[in-house]
This record gives sequence, structure tokens and C-alpha cells, in this order.
Amino acid sequence: MASLEDPLEIGGLTVPNRLYRAPLLECAGNGPDAVDVLIDDLEPAAESGVGLICQGATIVRGEGGCAAPGMTRVHDPAFVSRLSRLTDRIHDHGGRIFVQLEHGGLRSMETWHAEYRREHPDLEQLAVSKPPWQLRALDRVGFLSYDPHVMPTDEVYDLAADFGRAAAAAVEAGYDGIHLAGANMGIVQQFLSPFYNRRDDEFGGGPEARLEFLALVHDEIRDRAGDVPLMTKIPAETPAPPAPIVDRKLSLDDGVEIARRLEQIGYDAVVPVQTSVVWDMSIVRGEYPDRAWENEALQEEYDAAFGGSVRKRLVALGNRVQSLQYDFEPAWNEDFCRRVRDEVSIPVLAEGGIRERGRIDRLLGDGSAGGAAGADSQPACDAVGMARPFYAEPRLGARLLADGDETPRALCESCNNCTVPQVTGAPGICRTPDVLRKRGELERSGAYETSGS
Ligand SMILES: Cc1cc2nc3c(=O)[nH]c(=O)nc-3n(C[C@H](O)[C@H](O)[C@H](O)COP(=O)(O)O)c2cc1C
Ligand code: SF4
Repeated sequence: MASLEDPLEIGGLTVPNRLYRAPLLECAGNGPDAVDVLIDDLEPAAESGVGLICQGATIVRGEGGCAAPGMTRVHDPAFVSRLSRLTDRIHDHGGRIFVQLEHGGLRSMETWHAEYRREHPDLEQLAVSKPPWQLRALDRVGFLSYDPHVMPTDEVYDLAADFGRAAAAAVEAGYDGIHLAGANMGIVQQFLSPFYNRRDDEFGGGPEARLEFLALVHDEIRDRAGDVPLMTKIPAETPAPPAPIVDRKLSLDDGVEIARRLEQIGYDAVVPVQTSVVWDMSIVRGEYPDRAWENEALQEEYDAAFGGSVRKRLVALGNRVQSLQYDFEPAWNEDFCRRVRDEVSIPVLAEGGIRERGRIDRLLGDGSAGGAAGADSQPACDAVGMARPFYAEPRLGARLLADGDETPRALCESCNNCTVPQVTGAPGICRTPDVLRKRGELERSGAYETSGS
């Protein structure tokens, strides 16, 4: 049993407490102001006392592979070395920072972003296997656009080496650990999932072979970056889309088994996440973002991103259906985390719909926390993370970690108005006036102040 304020060991690293900022798109890119944008986005969380900052996904290659506009690439050691200014700032506040490594594969922008596709007509998408028929059908009707390059075996080794090289550069720049984007429909999930992976070499054919890419990435990181703490998100794929539309997917049992095997391979922590096989709202459950879709100032840019107003309306309609399918559920990964934690002895980090201190205490099994958890309750996880709430309150840590009788609650309403504008490259910020007004009131009342501020 632990409390939120207790330290946590991840692969020999001491994280000062059990609250983390989950990876979130910062839209910092690689331009001259990239490091400043990252500092502006991430430092307030560390300053407010958050123990671990997980930077949003960064791409291990110089071309292709971005899931959304504005993602930062970490293939160039000269650029990555500049990030030491960011890691220093996080360390100044006693926090730890992990970089998240990613390649989008078949989920890359050039498959869905019309304008980007036009500007990069020659980009192919790295593919684990030929896209499944469901995605090819979306290509035929013009919704997606695939020009896949199925990696031969030697190129899979090259890709894993790129993860290792990026990790080595990140460690040089002062990052405390490496996080892999294993459960947001990117290339790691594409290797793990039977929906995508139909390979017949050592990287496909059965559950153990589908794990081989993560085993290789682990070895590459250990060879090139040493014993740096290494964690990954692990997916269990949601029942939707249902069979027979999608009948090959990772069940919760499969997700638990992946976690068990990753511990044996040498991973230091896991983040169990329920996610779909396709890019939908399964990882950002909440409301249909009507304010974002109706934002007059963004209509032209939406048209450019989605390829015209008709397609834009169809995407918005799909978004509405998904919001019914993936209604907000507090701590929606709790059961998955609990099942994984029963099987592994490495730390299990939980995220997805966690909003209140009372629930945080229950997830951590903290029986001492003012009656929030029963004395005999078993923890579901070893650390708790939040993502969208940090857009709403960059200094949220100060409220959640404050002493006092209250059980604070994050202001974020999971309305998702911050998510859609990001298809235009707009920054990740809270866009809900009511929430911003409440944040202003809390700022004025000193709720975000810490002893060091
Ligand atoms: C705009 C946005 C960007 C995200 N980017 C990433 C990412 O880069 N890598 C990742 O693993 N998860 C990403 N996520 C998922 C979050 O880490 C988190 O799991 C999810 O938002 C649920 O947590 P929440 O309910 O606290 O927001 C993103 C979520 C949002 C809303
Ligand atoms: S717009 Fe604000 S309140 Fe809505 S999900 Fe994003 S951060 Fe939360």
C-alpha cells in the first residue's frame, strides 16, 4: 500500500512521488523554439510537484511516422542534445522526465491528413504487414490513403536500432528513462496486434513472435543506452469494432500475458491501456467536442486536414458515434491494471479518466487516506497519471499533492475540445471557457502555489 506522496522505484531510479503527467501532444516540432515550447508545456507540472513527466510521443526517424502535426523528431543527436535544457529544468524542481519513443507506421499522418499527403506525395508508410482489408476498404472509398512499405526482416532490425539510437541520445541529454508508445495504435501496437501483424518471419505468426519486436527494441536500448529505466504502454484491444468487422485482436488476457513476458524480457514498468485497433476515441474517452467542431476560425484548416467539408462532416459524425461508444468512465483502465499487477512485480502505472484524489488513493490502495480506501483494499497500480487535466491545469500537481482535508478533483471535464483542433497543428491547450474561468479563480486563491513558488 502506498500513498501518492511516497517515492517509487522504476528500474533503479527513484521517482519522488507517484503522480505522473501522462504523454500528451505538445506540438513543439523541431524548429528553433521547440525546446522553449517543451519547457513552457512541461515545466509547470514539475514545478507543481509532479514526480514523473512523460513527454508526448517523439518520432525515431527523420521522415514520416508522425501521427499528428507538430510532433517532435528525435533521430538527430544534435537536436536531442539541445533538450538537456528541458531535462535540467525538470530536474531543478526535483522531478524526473521520460521521453516517449514512437513511429506511427500505418497510423501516420500521410494516410489521413489530406494537406500533408499532398505536400509529401512520395512518403510511404512503414508497415508490419499489408494493411488489413478493413483499412484497404477505407482507402478504396477515399477516407484513408495507403502507400505501405512492408518492412522486410532486415528493416525491422534497422527500425529497432533507431529506437536504440534515439534512446541513447535522450539519455545523453539527461532524460531519466525511456517510455515506448506501445498502445496508441502506432507501430509497436501494430507488431503486437494480430489485426495488423500477419508476418511469417521471426516477428509474426503467434503471440510470442509478435512480442519479438519489443524484445529487440529492449536489447537495442540496453546495448546503446545502458541500463536506463525502460517502460512501455501495453494494449488490450476494445471489443469495438466488433466481429466480424474485426475478429483478430488482443484480449485483456493477451494484454496481461504481454505484461508478464515484458517483465521477463527486462522492461522496468508497464502502463496497461485499453485501446482500439483503429484510431478512435478509445484512449480519450469523453464527450463529443461540439465546441471544437463548430469553431468558425478553424473550419478552413479542418477542411484542409480532412480533404474538404464533406469529409470533415463525416469525420465529425464518426466522432459523435464514438463518443457514445466510448463514454467517459472514471479510471477506465483500473481492471486491466489490477489484473496486470497480480501477475508482475514491476511497477504498474495507471492512466485514463483519473480525476479525483479520492479515487487516486483507492487505486493506490492507500487505506490511510482519510477513509478514501479501505485498510484492506488491494492496490490496482503503483502510480497514477493524467493527461488532459494537465492541459486544463498545468500546475495541477500542487492541488493534488496538497495537505489538507479536502479531496481535490481535476477541473478537466473530458469534453475533448482540446483534441480536434490539434489536427490543424494548433497547440494542445484547454479550450473550454468554464474550465479556464475556474482555473483563474483557483490561481487567484493561491491553489497552485507550492512551498518553492
Ligand atoms: C491530445 C492528446 C495527445 C496524446 N498523445 C499521446 C502520446 O503522444 N502518447 C501516448 O502514449 N498517449 C497519448 N495520449 C493519451 C494519454 O496519454 C492518456 O492515456 C489519455 O489521454 C487518457 O488519459 P486522461 O483521461 O487523463 O486524458 C494523448 C491524449 C491526448 C488527449
Ligand atoms: S478542453 Fe479542457 S476540459 Fe475539455 S478535455 Fe480538454 S483540457 Fe479537459
